[in-house]
Amino acid sequence: MTSLPQFKTERLRIAMGAGEDVADLLRYLEENRGFLAPFEASKPPGYDTAPFWEEQFRRSLQEFYVDLSLRLFLFKRLKGDEKGPIIGSINFTQFVRGPFQACQLGYGMDEREQGKGLMTEALQALIPYVFGELGFHRIMASYMPENRRSARVLERLGFVVEGQAKDYVLIEGQWRDHVLTSLVNPRWVGTA
Ligand SMILES: CC(C)(COP(=O)(O)OP(=O)(O)OC[C@H]1O[C@@H](n2cnc3c(N)ncnc32)[C@H](O)[C@@H]1OP(=O)(O)O)[C@@H](O)C(=O)NCCC(=O)NCCS
Repeated sequence: MTSLPQFKTERLRIAMGAGEDVADLLRYLEENRGFLAPFEASKPPGYDTAPFWEEQFRRSLQEFYVDLSLRLFLFKRLKGDEKGPIIGSINFTQFVRGPFQACQLGYGMDEREQGKGLMTEALQALIPYVFGELGFHRIMASYMPENRRSARVLERLGFVVEGQAKDYVLIEGQWRDHVLTSLVNPRWVGTA
């Protein structure tokens, strides 16, 4: 069985969620509910409960093992390398193989931790894994035109704007336009 991916950067530890993380995740979601809601797809019922996340963590593991998604949380890295509190999440989803070899990137950060370069630091560690170990050729990401912070994260990492999609994602009950971007791995050596 493939081992679970875990990453350390200068200021972060990055890993999939486990049962021991549920309480801290609920704290993170509660504290950031108002901040993140305007940027994210509408949430299913029970999203803010422990049983939902216990099931979600089980499902995320299954999805990783059957090559469908990689869902990760950003933990502050404490002295002695301990995992600190959750301060963000990064999801690579909608894995498509065959002649496409592509996935979708989504992310969010604790409101108080923005503007420190942490999302860029995390993605700089993850992208080589997604291209290298997971063997993708293209990572796609989209953002609402007014979300300049998200645009800057992607620009910094080399994502290229490929177009604009009308009425693309349902956010807080409204279909919202998004800018479509991609990062392509020029050194792809897979065998699709
Ligand atoms: C978009 C979002 C993830 C950006 O997170 P972030 O951690 O601030 O992003 P970065 O890691 O790229 O940080 C870069 C900023 O930190 C600053 N910074 C401070 N110290 C830094 C350091 N040591 N290294 C690098 N950048 C640093 C940079 O100047 C930059 O500021 P700017 O964006 O005002 O130019 C965050 O704002 C967020 O969660 N927004 C709401 C949800 C959302 O938009 N999700 C995406 C939907 S498409």
